[in-house]
Amino acid sequence: MKGLLTAGGHGTRLRPITHTKNKHLIPIANQPMLSYAIDYMRKAQIIDIGIIINENDKEIENIFGNGKQYGVNLTYIHQNSPLGLAHVIKISEDFIGKDKFLFYLGDNILVGGVNRFIDEFNKLKSNCHLVLSKVNDPERFGVPEIKNNKIISISEKPKNPKSDYAITGIYLYDSSIFEAVNNIKPSERGELEISDAHQYLLEKNKKITFSEITGWWKDTGKPSDLIEANKLVLKNMVKKKNFDYYDKVEFNNKINGKIIYGKDSIIKKSIINGPVIIGNNVVIENSTVGPNVSLSNNCKVINSRIEDSIVMSGTSFLNIKKTIKNSLLGNNIQINQKNEFFNEINLIIGDQGKIEIG
Ligand code: DAU
Repeated sequence: MKGLLTAGGHGTRLRPITHTKNKHLIPIANQPMLSYAIDYMRKAQIIDIGIIINENDKEIENIFGNGKQYGVNLTYIHQNSPLGLAHVIKISEDFIGKDKFLFYLGDNILVGGVNRFIDEFNKLKSNCHLVLSKVNDPERFGVPEIKNNKIISISEKPKNPKSDYAITGIYLYDSSIFEAVNNIKPSERGELEISDAHQYLLEKNKKITFSEITGWWKDTGKPSDLIEANKLVLKNMVKKKNFDYYDKVEFNNKINGKIIYGKDSIIKKSIINGPVIIGNNVVIENSTVGPNVSLSNNCKVINSRIEDSIVMSGTSFLNIKKTIKNSLLGNNIQINQKNEFFNEINLIIGDQGKIEIG
């Protein structure tokens, strides 16, 4: 079985962060989002993985290279323009050949891996196996209509959804999907929709089966989704011995819950409420950090308080008197406060931002 992973598209809902960073590289618990999908594939013995990237994107390749360090072989497939998920499959036909494959949308985060879905697909000998999750807002997703435990129709972002299930971005196919993607027409928004390809398979009486995710799954389209995904991954994180450095953590701190410390980080006179992950060379002084905070390398938190947030590398907070919460902050941002007048601050700031408050 091969793997096909998306890392292209527009990322418009995550601007300004995505002006300077591919959204699939936004860190969740200090690891690029895409690395979780690669990890899940490797754990399912899927080693040959194609990654879809936008035409001029070098960022993904610079970080993941040929995949050796992740124990996989990566092939990069360039998409001229984001013409839809069925278009992604269409341009990957040479890479996939006659193999069965797992198609995984790189902006989907789930807990527990993909092995269960692959086992079901193989056991049921399906042409296409979908993974469903119950949601409150099915109109944002591909939605199945289900009768007698069978999918009877599928529509993309319907105004009147026929069930409260989302079709998640985890799909298993045999080569019949290529006939579908080569025969459908672009939708009103000009994309070759994956849901139209699934509907095509249904109309050709192909076998479409499904599993339901009962645990946690998220399509990380918006900043709040990323902050929630970060929370969940932190909650489930496991300490790796050689990734944990306590030496520069002084005794004049109050540490509660699960914390992962990076190398050469200094923590002084502070309260850390886990789960929190702290990258390398971070300074935390006279501050409260956590719960649910990821601080990447080279961040500084001085006389400040931060909760439920993702902070990318080199970003600093100085003298922020009120809590920074539910925030997604890019690289090398400086936030300093002179006077006190806020209760809470919620921020979405791209790389190099500079903010002076008061
Ligand atoms: O997350 C599940 C949903 O994903 C499904 O329920 C929908 O049926 C499916 O269409 C898709 O909807 P989204 O609106 O969330 O798709 P989005 O445009 O955000 O793209 C999903 C991923 O694929 C993301 O990693 C970006 C990438 N992509 C997208 C397009 C349209 C590409 O690499 N190339 C593309 O042409």
